[in-house]
Amino acid sequence: MADGVHGLMRPLACAHDWVERVLVPGDSAVDATAGNGYDTLFLARLVGPSGHVHAFDVQAAALEETRRRLMREGCGERVSLHECSHSRMREAVPDGVKAVMFNLGYLPGSDHAVKTVKEETVPAVQAASELLLPGGVLTVMCYPGHEGGREECEAVEEFLESLPLPQWRVVRLASANGSSDAAFLLAALRVPGK
Ligand SMILES: C[S@@+](CC[C@H](N)C(=O)[O-])C[C@H]1O[C@@H](n2cnc3c(N)ncnc32)[C@H](O)[C@@H]1O
Repeated sequence: MADGVHGLMRPLACAHDWVERVLVPGDSAVDATAGNGYDTLFLARLVGPSGHVHAFDVQAAALEETRRRLMREGCGERVSLHECSHSRMREAVPDGVKAVMFNLGYLPGSDHAVKTVKEETVPAVQAASELLLPGGVLTVMCYPGHEGGREECEAVEEFLESLPLPQWRVVRLASANGSSDAAFLLAALRVPGK
């Protein structure tokens, strides 16, 4: 089990674990930053053929890569791909989603100038919180190590800290003995029954 615990201490693995505990077949979910489509595929598998995933990216090439990945795995029909900023999530996604995943920053191996920015990310996280059903979870992978990244992470954290108790539980998973540039996870659970 030691390996399993070690794996779960990685923020992205932890985000996946929490989303996996919440999503069931037939649910609706959002990947706010599709990139190469790994998280989109992860969500699509969990919601199954009767569920639906909305995936956003500003880069056509990223969405094309996501589309190819989904088709290869037979999950293309349950995903809507939106080539626009995630700040337009409210226009594109019907109310009532069980999970929203953000993986901020830039796509490794592509143009680093195309990256998430706090002016778009904070409204998008707010929109995601408005779409989320009780029992649903919102995860944000944060990367403070690149230019503008720390300000973006702080702005997202400030918004999430404002979500009221007892309707919301907000947590931060970060390395306590690593670099302050290390990636960390912010997550918000919309508490069921509140
Ligand atoms: C770290 S990558 C995402 C990785 C992805 N989740 C995966 O599984 O491969 C961040 C992505 O956010 C996208 N992005 C940047 N600004 C955006 C915005 N305003 N709205 C939506 N996506 C954006 C980038 O184009 C990039 O593909």
